[in-house]
Amino acid sequence: MPTRGAMLLAAPCKMTSLWRAKNRRRRAVDFNQIIDRRGTHCSQWDGMQAKFGVSPKDGLGMWTADSNYATAPCVREELQRWVDHGIFGYTWEYPEYKDAVVWWMKNRHGWEIDADWVLTTQGLGNGIALCLDVWSEPGDTVAIFPPVYHEFRIKIENAGRVVTECPLVRDGDSYALDLEDAQSRLTGTEKLLIWCSPQNPSGRIWTVEELRAVSEFAKRNGMILVSDEIHHDLVYAGNKYVPTDVAVPDGRAHTVYLTAASKTFNIAGMRTGNMIIPDPDLRMAMKHRLHTLNYSPASLGLHMICAAYTPEGAAWVDEQMAHLDGNRQLFDAGMQAIPGVWSMPLQSTFLAWVDFAGTGMAFEEFRARIRDTAKLAASPGPQFGTGGETWMRFNLAGPRPMIEDAVGRLQTAFADLQ
Ligand SMILES: Cc1ncc(COP(=O)(O)O)c(C=O)c1O
Repeated sequence: MPTRGAMLLAAPCKMTSLWRAKNRRRRAVDFNQIIDRRGTHCSQWDGMQAKFGVSPKDGLGMWTADSNYATAPCVREELQRWVDHGIFGYTWEYPEYKDAVVWWMKNRHGWEIDADWVLTTQGLGNGIALCLDVWSEPGDTVAIFPPVYHEFRIKIENAGRVVTECPLVRDGDSYALDLEDAQSRLTGTEKLLIWCSPQNPSGRIWTVEELRAVSEFAKRNGMILVSDEIHHDLVYAGNKYVPTDVAVPDGRAHTVYLTAASKTFNIAGMRTGNMIIPDPDLRMAMKHRLHTLNYSPASLGLHMICAAYTPEGAAWVDEQMAHLDGNRQLFDAGMQAIPGVWSMPLQSTFLAWVDFAGTGMAFEEFRARIRDTAKLAASPGPQFGTGGETWMRFNLAGPRPMIEDAVGRLQTAFADLQ
């Protein structure tokens, strides 16, 4: 350990790297360790009875997008060091934090950003609400491409804005954009387009051409493009995610980019996300609003992200993706074995998107089997908007035995179809 004098003088991230240099060792990562989260006030398990009527005593939490395994050792150790430090005073978006974000975007995504462009939020749900607040008025309309992360619609409606749905179309094993149809649905009063890349719930990774087309669509119709890229680290081998800003560098004047370490490192409860805003006018408008709201970041969130956005954190993400790849293969094979059930092949995210249309059952019937027979708390497809009517979404970010258990329960719940 550094001497006491050195620790007192060292800036937080310098303390971190000193400590890390002396303690660098290979740490075992066990994504299969079962950690009982029940009774910890976590939404995933302790909230499932109230939300879905599934008891945590014998049910499985597979709905909200956090993971049922521990975060990276480097993140936990960093948090432990701050716990040992014992003082949790005020902080600000200090340069080492922004540099860590800059480093991550460049090294993981080939995205060159300027540290000045980074503003923090209390998570990306908060980021979306802030964008609605800054760039639209009550009564304005906001475009989305369903089926899409249900909170887009909820945030828009909570803010007194109106949703314009521009549904995705099915294209073989995936989804595609139909921008001609989308154009015909716009009312002309849209102020924002809230966009999800990679896409939740389908895991679709958009091509450079699609990203350009969406950016152009937003610009042509006078909309600010809010590009939610929260799932961008969770990409399966063989797929290539391109940041919207890399695909469309000339789209900056009308785009706000949202990213976070929360899904990647399972630290969503730290409520820390980033708004990356290259355009000075857009950034100034957001900064001003953050200031009037008296926003300032939570110190532990920033410290943990500094530790996450490092080579050690990156190596852990690679191991996590190998684990998730095994989970999705196991889960997809299990679903494809049930007649009439089909799990969309994921390009990214740990959220399986499963279609029950082929069973011929009404939504309430297959949902009841999943809830009451399989006892799985999973997300209902209709909440994701048009196109989600016959679907359910299952969170696969758990120990492998839990996914095996879920597959077995689902196969039993639909055994009569065999
Ligand atoms: C696409 C997308 N955006 C935003 C969020 C919410 O992020 P946060 O927990 O940072 O508010 C989620 C959570 O599942 C998400 O999937």
